[in-house]
Amino acid sequence: MTHLTARIGPSILSADFLRLGAQIDAVAAAGADYIHVDVMDGRYVPNITVGPPVLRAVRGGTSLPVDVHLMIVEPAQWIDEFVAAGADVLTIHVEADVHVYRTLRAIEEAGAAPGIAINPGTPLVMLEDVLPIVRQVLIMTVNPGFGGQTFIPASLDRIRRMREMIDRRNPQCTLQIDGGIRASNIRKVVEAGADSIVIGSSIFVPDRPVSETMGELRAALAATN
Ligand code: DX5
Ligand code: ZN
Repeated sequence: MTHLTARIGPSILSADFLRLGAQIDAVAAAGADYIHVDVMDGRYVPNITVGPPVLRAVRGGTSLPVDVHLMIVEPAQWIDEFVAAGADVLTIHVEADVHVYRTLRAIEEAGAAPGIAINPGTPLVMLEDVLPIVRQVLIMTVNPGFGGQTFIPASLDRIRRMREMIDRRNPQCTLQIDGGIRASNIRKVVEAGADSIVIGSSIFVPDRPVSETMGELRAALAATN
């Protein structure tokens, strides 16, 4: 079997917020490719997390790319603020904005790479016509809102179909997935076509060093069975 690779982005949602700087240093030392920041507003999803001040602190504390996942309503109003706070990639949800084309353009103009995310129940065709103007597609593999949920099996087929669509419409575009990824399924999602993997609760495990948890994930990806 072929040796698979993918970029891995730890989601700080599952980190120890009291020791956030140290946790970011630790994942960077363990080979993280970027830092994923989940922004939730209690309206688009039933949870509230962090906003621009925390993003600014993360930005100041790492030289890794910072990938910001907005799970908020009316994301267009917040683009400039999140780019100014340090987002390298800024991803909005296709379900959260009736003018996604305009908002994605605004992200590019503000100086970040635009990304578009899609929930497990939303038809993939919703993304087809913005593919040429995005640099990342995020397929949610759980319903957004919380870390530590179980991967939805139907996602595998969605990843395969999105891979085909990306190869056809914009081969430079990254295919990111987010939710429920662990050592037992990371290989399957990469085989299906994902090239960037967000992982929260399987990296930040209480009482275990992230060098060990990230090592397990990388080993599972490289495994030949
Ligand atoms: C869920 C968030 C994810 C979350 C993933 O709404 O978008 O980024 O942190 O966490 P795990 O890897 O625990 O599913
Ligand atoms: Zn996320």
